[in-house]
Amino acid sequence: MCGIVGYVGNKQALTVVVDGLRRLEYRGYDSAGVAVVQDHKLEVRKKAGKLVNLETLLGTDPLPNSTTGIGHTRWATHGIPNDANAHPHTDVSNEIAVIHNGIIENFSELRAELQLAGVKLSSDTDTEVVAHLLNFEYPKSNNDLAESMRKVVRRLRGAFTLVAVHAQQPDVVVGARRNSPLVVGRGVGENFLASDVSAFISHTKNAIELGQDQVVELRHDKITITDFDGKPAVTKEYVVDWDAKAAEKGGFDLFMLKEIFEQPKAVAETLVGRLGEDGKLILEEMTLSIGQIANIEKIVFVACGTAFHSGMIGKYAMERWTRIPCEVELASEFRYRDPILNNRTLVVAISQSGETMDTLMAIRHAKSQGAKVLAICNTQGATIPRESDAVLYTRGGPEIAVASTKAFLTQVVAVELLSLYFAELRLDKPTAEIKQVMNELANISHQIDVVLDTTDAVNELAKKYVNAQSVLFIGRHVGFPVALEGALKLKELAYMHAEGFAAGELKHGPIALIEDGIPVVVIVPSLREEKELHEKVVSNIQEVRARGAKTILIVEEGDDSILDFADHIIRIPQTSSLLQPLVATVPLQVFSCALATLKGHDVDQPRNLAKSVTVE
Ligand code: F6R
Repeated sequence: MCGIVGYVGNKQALTVVVDGLRRLEYRGYDSAGVAVVQDHKLEVRKKAGKLVNLETLLGTDPLPNSTTGIGHTRWATHGIPNDANAHPHTDVSNEIAVIHNGIIENFSELRAELQLAGVKLSSDTDTEVVAHLLNFEYPKSNNDLAESMRKVVRRLRGAFTLVAVHAQQPDVVVGARRNSPLVVGRGVGENFLASDVSAFISHTKNAIELGQDQVVELRHDKITITDFDGKPAVTKEYVVDWDAKAAEKGGFDLFMLKEIFEQPKAVAETLVGRLGEDGKLILEEMTLSIGQIANIEKIVFVACGTAFHSGMIGKYAMERWTRIPCEVELASEFRYRDPILNNRTLVVAISQSGETMDTLMAIRHAKSQGAKVLAICNTQGATIPRESDAVLYTRGGPEIAVASTKAFLTQVVAVELLSLYFAELRLDKPTAEIKQVMNELANISHQIDVVLDTTDAVNELAKKYVNAQSVLFIGRHVGFPVALEGALKLKELAYMHAEGFAAGELKHGPIALIEDGIPVVVIVPSLREEKELHEKVVSNIQEVRARGAKTILIVEEGDDSILDFADHIIRIPQTSSLLQPLVATVPLQVFSCALATLKGHDVDQPRNLAKSVTVE
């Protein structure tokens, strides 16, 4: 949520910063702004709306050349998305510019204090208070911006990444981090700050994880990192293992389409080196000991949105293969209901970004109650894996489209690998089903490739339903989270009313929504594997057809028993039941993408959303 870039070096700061913002725009696109320092003067340009509006402004009102600059792309929290509320925010002397990601919870009292001191605030944001507070502290801190920042952040409550420049320190950018992400990029004669590495990956792959409650002072040849009290901080430097190309569209019109088509590769990467030749699993970075795994009495999957749906699949897999009781819970609900946790509970936190605030707060609560935490995450060095006891990385590569696609499939693979691994350690010998799933996993990328061949047919189908008022999705067992995921994608991309239901629940209420012509997408369980469930779903299909629904059936190859009940059929390859989400979800992603495109929506950056939700 909100993208931040800072630069000090030998290049034109504006070019580097705007290029970085373009790569971070998926984090928020309510407004964009930049500030540069030149000849001891601060210059700011900012504009409501997408980055392109700022670029237009910069065309008519250019900035001076400068090698020090900061930039921001906003997802609005405090204050509507207008020019005044766009970042950077400046102090009364117009010498300090500040950008911010997060929420400063005590901003009202700080605002009141500033107003009492005669400061006139020019925006509704929580961020502006920081610019004025820095202005008060600067002379008292020997005209040292980093020291002023340390003093100011000690007064703030909430979550914040802050980055600031001062006209009188033209070769310095200062950043501070609590709870929201900020990464340092170490270059040669130039250094970077950003919400994530994609902003500077085309300049350097050397990154430094900034820890909780740290302040960084960036100069072109020096990076100084301290804690909020000024003591030198321990930091971790790493090399980013993907290159700038991975964060580009690669010939596709949309990042989302590119990411949908990358799924076979993303899944294959997530499996590489993990399926041992002797049929045993190798999860190297999953550092829970055999003793700790044997000790587990209960597992709770916590996550948000799409990641929550993969957690639901995790529960089905884990319980079926290990018989460990599992719960799956929305991270935003978890800690507020005081869940029962102890040192025999394992909390599995699933997060693509590794920065989702609800999930982060959930794991902090779990740890405070003595539970062990394992993160399933796509982002190396992010806060959630860093604060967890163990981690299993999905290796999906950067996901730029706001709506998750490849992250979901790789998360499903990860929860299933974890379940198989626990089963391997806790059972005397693997069941026939486990052996079969292990074999199938080796071929699953190919199956995902096969289902991508349905794309044209799904695009045609979307044309038929572009004017539908509402679309329902139903499924049973792991088809239920797939139905929820299909509905979520449609809501967020096509802005259509869509609901996912457990098919058996229909008759308990939602069936009242069925009216003539309403499309109902049904994830049909495997006839070979789940005969009983299959029969039940066929009954549900008949119930909705009898009331006028048009049925779109997602059905595995070879199942012709449903031909009479289908208005449209999308075929998926045969898989074990618990692997079916890996193929059944793909056409639903394509369907939403196609409907959103037909409606003329911005598929990669849907309205009101942002990737990486770093506020609660
Ligand atoms: C939906 C989507 C969101 C995220 C959710 C969690 O397409 O992308 O629902 O899944 O915000 O984000 P992460 O996985 O980064 O914790």
